[in-house]
Amino acid sequence: MKLTLSVIKADIGSIGGHVAPSRRLLDAVEAFIHNNGIGLVTDYNISHTGDDIAILMTHTRGEGNEAIHKLAWNAFLEGTAVAKKQGLYGAGQDLLKEAFSGNVKGMGPAVAEMEFEERPNEPFLFFAADKTDPGAYNLPLYLAFADPMNTPGLLLSPHMSKGFKFVIMDVSYTEGDRVIELNSPEQLYDIAALLRDPERFVVESIWSRASGEQAAAVATTRLHNIAGKYTGKDDPVMLVRVQMNFPATGEVLTPFAIGHFVAGGMRGSHQMPLMPVAVNTGISYFDGPPIVSCAGFCVHDQMLTERVDNFAHPFWNEVRDHVSRKAIEMRRQGFFGAAMLPMGELEYTGIMEKLNALEKQFAVRPAAVPVPA
Ligand code: F6R
Ligand code: MG
Ligand code: MG
Repeated sequence: MKLTLSVIKADIGSIGGHVAPSRRLLDAVEAFIHNNGIGLVTDYNISHTGDDIAILMTHTRGEGNEAIHKLAWNAFLEGTAVAKKQGLYGAGQDLLKEAFSGNVKGMGPAVAEMEFEERPNEPFLFFAADKTDPGAYNLPLYLAFADPMNTPGLLLSPHMSKGFKFVIMDVSYTEGDRVIELNSPEQLYDIAALLRDPERFVVESIWSRASGEQAAAVATTRLHNIAGKYTGKDDPVMLVRVQMNFPATGEVLTPFAIGHFVAGGMRGSHQMPLMPVAVNTGISYFDGPPIVSCAGFCVHDQMLTERVDNFAHPFWNEVRDHVSRKAIEMRRQGFFGAAMLPMGELEYTGIMEKLNALEKQFAVRPAAVPVPA
């Protein structure tokens, strides 16, 4: 029987601003899944990354399953009641629709799911990012799955040498899922041409060309496409299968040492470097910096091992210091140029209102009359 991994995450309220959920909130979500997941999910793991709570579940019902999605939705509703009772900031913020309608996709929570035949040993990574959007994973995925400078497995493993298929979504298209499939290495430059624009083109999934198996699934939700306006950054989750025909754990983690600049941070409207952090880390400097956590698991007969916390390792302390320096350096230029996101990506309308008001005050100066010689 095929295994399905489903991770569904939402921001339903946090302490002290958009920082971290309360213990009671996490306990309420966990208790709900524990009590109501019987017969639905085989195993689960609850964690938070910044202000977002993620429910990772194993089951056999396939992707987009109504009962599984409803379980997570109801857990978040239950949590929202607790968040309201505690007066948490942004209680229920990511639950954008009133009533559940079959699938949480398009309702606010972010979803990443994969259905596959379990390998005899099945290691996988669960990434969660806060204060950024799904394009934050473009660069690490490109490097891990398509660049032999990062991933020696592309040269060393005969299976991986056959390359990977990238499914990339145009997230600015709101009428439906507009996707393109491109193969590495042949179409490397085409893949790069799209992925360099992470606010528009986002990796949705990656597939092994040797076996046809799925290697990665990314949540591609853009909250402002649902709400018609920004209601918060999308804070994406991602699942990546590792080892054997897929990149090794270390090959997938390595690109995160760059601390690349991503959209997010303060008021979801800036460019800030992405900091790899331990699972269950909160938010701080400049409502950021944007953070990403990575929990590693093995799964067997749909049962999860305990998680290993990949970015808790001492190696990442140096990376975090580097990211802090990059963040402070960028913040020195305040709202100027590259520090703040372009107009279309700002979470607030204040600048547009100011520009519209100023527009009326502009005047075209009469052309200078040439003075006769
Ligand atoms: C994401 C996040 C931010 C906020 C945004 C709006 O986790 O917290 O994207 O949603 O900064 O913040 P407020 O509520 O202060 O307007
Ligand atoms: Mg938030
Ligand atoms: Mg968040």
